[in-house]
Amino acid sequence: MQKHPSPYPSVLILGALSDVALAMAELYASRGYRLLLAARQSERLERIVSDLRLRFNAEVKALEFDARQYDSHQEFVDSLPELPDVAIVAFGYLGDQEKALHHFPEALRIIESNYTGAVSILNRLYLRMAERGHGTLAAIASVAGLRGRMSNFHYGSAKAGLIAYLSGLRNLAYHHGVHVITLIPGFMRTRMIAHMKTPGFLTLSPSKAAHLMTRAIQKRRNVAYIGPLWWLIMCIIRTIPESIFKKLKL
Ligand SMILES: NC(=O)c1ccc[n+]([C@@H]2O[C@H](COP(=O)([O-])OP(=O)(O)OC[C@H]3O[C@@H](n4cnc5c(N)ncnc54)[C@H](OP(=O)(O)O)[C@@H]3O)[C@@H](O)[C@H]2O)c1
Repeated sequence: MQKHPSPYPSVLILGALSDVALAMAELYASRGYRLLLAARQSERLERIVSDLRLRFNAEVKALEFDARQYDSHQEFVDSLPELPDVAIVAFGYLGDQEKALHHFPEALRIIESNYTGAVSILNRLYLRMAERGHGTLAAIASVAGLRGRMSNFHYGSAKAGLIAYLSGLRNLAYHHGVHVITLIPGFMRTRMIAHMKTPGFLTLSPSKAAHLMTRAIQKRRNVAYIGPLWWLIMCIIRTIPESIFKKLKL
C-alpha cells in the first residue's frame, strides 16, 4: 500500500544527541513531523531512532554527521533523503576554558564545534533552500555569546560569532524566501553543564527548553531568548561599563 506523504514538514536536527535536541526530536515526532536526526555516534542514534519510531509511529531517519569534518558536509547535504523544511543546529561544545587558554587544540575544538562547523553546514543548507525558495534555519547560540566573561570566553566568543553570522544570514536569506532563527538559551539542565551549579529558577529542563525552541521556530521568530528573564538579565549585563565589568569575577 502506498503511504500518503506526511502533511507535516520535515525537520533535520544536527547534533541530535544533545539532551535538548533529543527533547525536540520527541516533540516533533509526537506531532507527526518527518525527522532526520544527524549525529556523530551512529549506534546510539540508531537506538533512539528505533525508539521514536516505536513510540510515536514517526518517520525518522538517522544520519552520520560531524560538525568538524568540513570536507564531508557537501556530501552530507547532497545525500540527504530530502531537503528539509526546517534545519536546526543543536551541536555545541562548552569545553574547558583553562585548558583552552594553555592548549590551543582545545580552543580550536571549542571554536569549531560552536562556530565554524555551524557556518560550514548552514552555508550549504542555505544555498539549497534559497535555490528551492523556502526553508527555515535555526541554530542554538547562547547568552554566553552576548558578553565575554573570564569563565568561558572561548565558548562565548564562538557563540558571539555564530550570533553575528546568523544575523547577517537572516538578512540575506530574507530576500530568498529562507527564514533564519537565532535561539539564545540561558542555562539548560543538560550534560553540558552537569558539573556546574546554576540557580534553579534560571535553569530550564531540556523538555521545557525544547518546548520553547520549537514554539519559537513555529512562530518564525527572528531572535528568541529561551527562558524568561534572560532578555532582561542580558540587557543589564551588557550595559555594565567595561571599566567595572573587568573587575567582576564572572
Ligand atoms: N546547557 C546549557 O546550559 C546551554 C546554554 C546555552 C546554550 N547551549 C547550547 O545548546 C546546544 C545543545 O547543547 P546541550 O545543552 O543539549 O548539551 P549536550 O547534551 O552536551 O549536547 C551537545 C551536543 O553537541 C554534540 N557535538 C559536539 N561536537 C560535535 C561535533 N563536532 N559534531 C556533531 N555533534 C557534536 C554532542 O555530540 P555527542 O553526543 O557525540 O557528544 C552533543 O550531542 C549547544 O549548542 C550548546 O552550546 C547550552
